[in-house]
Amino acid sequence: MQEITLKTADAELLGTFFKNLGAEALARFTPHSISPAALREVCTDPSDARLVAVDADGVPVAYAVLREIARPVPELLIAAAEPGCGYGTRMLELVKAYAREQNKTALRASVEPDNMRAHRLLGHHGFTQIGFTGGMNLLLLCDLRENPTPRGKLPEVSREYVLRTGNRCIFRSLCADDGERLDAFFRQLDKKGRAFFTPHDLTRPFLETLCRDTAADINADRFIVTDTDGRIAGYVFLSALQSPLPSMGIGTAEWARGEGLGREMLRFIQNRARAYGLHAMRLSTHLTNYTAQKLYKTSGFEVIGTTSFGELLMLCDLGRVD
Ligand SMILES: CC(C)(COP(=O)(O)OP(=O)(O)OC[C@H]1O[C@@H](n2cnc3c(N)ncnc32)[C@H](O)[C@@H]1OP(=O)(O)O)[C@@H](O)C(=O)NCCC(=O)NCCS
Repeated sequence: MQEITLKTADAELLGTFFKNLGAEALARFTPHSISPAALREVCTDPSDARLVAVDADGVPVAYAVLREIARPVPELLIAAAEPGCGYGTRMLELVKAYAREQNKTALRASVEPDNMRAHRLLGHHGFTQIGFTGGMNLLLLCDLRENPTPRGKLPEVSREYVLRTGNRCIFRSLCADDGERLDAFFRQLDKKGRAFFTPHDLTRPFLETLCRDTAADINADRFIVTDTDGRIAGYVFLSALQSPLPSMGIGTAEWARGEGLGREMLRFIQNRARAYGLHAMRLSTHLTNYTAQKLYKTSGFEVIGTTSFGELLMLCDLGRVD
């Protein structure tokens, strides 16, 4: 394979690339219209990065779009003009290096389930499936970090918090002896609450162990809000803390709902994520959990697909919320 060089796309290079693209690839790869006027227009759009790889003769052999390059997890669309020549592999390496230079820690991509060639290529380059996109394409995520240093746990938290009703609470890190409290919290949730909020095993032995091991767990950071009787009013956590895209979970006790605690806990965990140096995080929520979705959508989350369990998968760009 000839060495290829990455260039910023222009309408002329893209016109030649799409003219050379085979019918099958053209049918699968439709990042935008390809009329000369449309190509001139897309090349002036600053929100996406458009990269063309050219061979030694200056012929464009691969094209990649990084949609919304300013966002923390841009979406990658990629195509190579001559399948089987290794251009796709080399292009992917160049694009990943480019994304790292832009300080991105992760990329996402969507692939049709029957597109074995693209699936294999992305799979060999660190893309793993995290769910599905709206059209039932596979949703893949790539960790761009090379030998990432483990994120150390931030100091524990303990502060007073007053509910809208005036009731005083303590907002604090989960402790080793909170097992019974956490068990009581999950027990008081009604059937719907339990259906919507099952972030992990809810058996008493599991909850005891979870609490006992919480301080040493480098993959999760967990918090509760307790009232003056020690009852848990809210539970919020960050998990998959060592991954490029950690996730979060949140739940409020039945008796503490609608008092602003959910929004407060969400704001807290977003700030905590920022303190870990994160630029984005994800969550999953039941398709019919409209109350939670309203909270998330008004707090910087957007839907990016569904999980393999059929839940909505949402992403929060932490740079876009206070
Ligand atoms: C989702 C949940 C965490 C919200 O907690 P909360 O303490 O009631 O939330 P808040 O009082 O801060 O309200 C936050 C937002 O939720 C929405 N909301 C709250 N109660 C609502 C209701 N009864 N109907 C519709 N929307 C409601 C509103 O958008 C509200 O914002 P606003 O008051 O600024 O309009 C809580 O309902 C809950 O624990 N549900 C069960 C477990 C669960 O679903 N967890 C999420 C799993 S993904």
